[in-house]
Amino acid sequence: MSPDRTACWWEREDLGYRNNALIFAGHSVKELAEQFGSPSFVYSFDRVRANLNRLHKSLNDVGLSDRFSILFAMKANRFAPLLANLKQTQLCGIDACSPNEVELAVSCGFQPKQISFTAGSLSVLDFSTLARYDGLFFDCDSIHAIRKWGELKPGTEIGIRVNPGMGISREANEKLQYSGSKISKFGIYQEQFDEALSTAKEYDLRVSKIHFHTGCGYLTPQLEYWESILEKCQWFIARCENITRVNIGGGLGVPHTDTDQALDLEKWAEILMRQFGASNLHIEIEPGDYLLKDAGLLLLGITYIEKKKDTVFLGVDAGFNIAPEPAYYDLPFQPVPLELSNEEYSSYHVAGNINEALDIWYENASLPNMEAQKYLALLNAGAYSASMASNHCMRGHFKEFLLA
Ligand SMILES: Cc1ncc(COP(=O)(O)O)c(C=O)c1O
Repeated sequence: MSPDRTACWWEREDLGYRNNALIFAGHSVKELAEQFGSPSFVYSFDRVRANLNRLHKSLNDVGLSDRFSILFAMKANRFAPLLANLKQTQLCGIDACSPNEVELAVSCGFQPKQISFTAGSLSVLDFSTLARYDGLFFDCDSIHAIRKWGELKPGTEIGIRVNPGMGISREANEKLQYSGSKISKFGIYQEQFDEALSTAKEYDLRVSKIHFHTGCGYLTPQLEYWESILEKCQWFIARCENITRVNIGGGLGVPHTDTDQALDLEKWAEILMRQFGASNLHIEIEPGDYLLKDAGLLLLGITYIEKKKDTVFLGVDAGFNIAPEPAYYDLPFQPVPLELSNEEYSSYHVAGNINEALDIWYENASLPNMEAQKYLALLNAGAYSASMASNHCMRGHFKEFLLA
């Protein structure tokens, strides 16, 4: 194999090679790795801001200005410097899914009224902790939650998370779907919606928002189906007499391979306009992946290279436990060399340091001769990586840096 520059499908203005050295957000990635050590996550706030601005522009361009809010799904990345910077932009609020997330968001400067809360299986302690945040907007995802919230906050406004029985994902990855044909714990189905509304009435709760999040990672080929999900959700909206808001969840994806294309945001925003333009509904969008994923790299130290049978393994100093998506969801995190060379490229299995058979970062990565390189970077590690990390095998250590 020879150096294949077309393989760098992921290169963009702020990420790519200059004089054969990988540059990210204006920094030499090799220098970052040498300065910070490994494993380290590096995040570009400029990229996050650009992603956020692009979303705003697409919605403004179709005529939805002043009719939408972006709520960053902080489960994707809760690094405090990142949250504090997001707050400064004034371009988004927060989607939180646990009382601790609410507390962290507030500690980073967000006001409770800028936070929308959606989660399931809440304990008595969870409900009472959340009820202390005046202004926090609560979406109930079960009849049980409506009752418990009603007991604590009668006479207030709530959202109801619904389940349209249709799910979406990158490709047809069912593991990424939250409301597909398989029964799911998320939201209230059509069959029980009347009961949900009457329970809300019992506690004098005004249902002013319908919320749904139906899956993750959708790209342009899935948009037509996504519109049919929105159409199905109109059924719930039509039954709520006090509705002022619709929350369409997150799920907007970013490319993971050379065959994935960036989500066509223009088409995406046109669909929203078509579905909700004629109504007076305020639209909430709660993206995690779209804002953060391609704004982060994971820098890994190379530990060994060895051929076993006909496969060359490239070992690195961290495993799937600090960025679990490739192992949990079969999402490929492309490995990229920090330096290019003109030598032949060859195929490597990139292996982590965890004693689990699934701890292979990537199979058959095409890389230059790695013998002389000390580090490797993984793309798309800005979301659902550090935030999902565990201390499995007591190898949960990593560092995080927000690049200026
Ligand atoms: C309720 C809810 N909203 C938003 C998100 C964010 O999704 P994504 O990161 O795919 O945009 C999630 C992710 O699981 C979610 O469960």
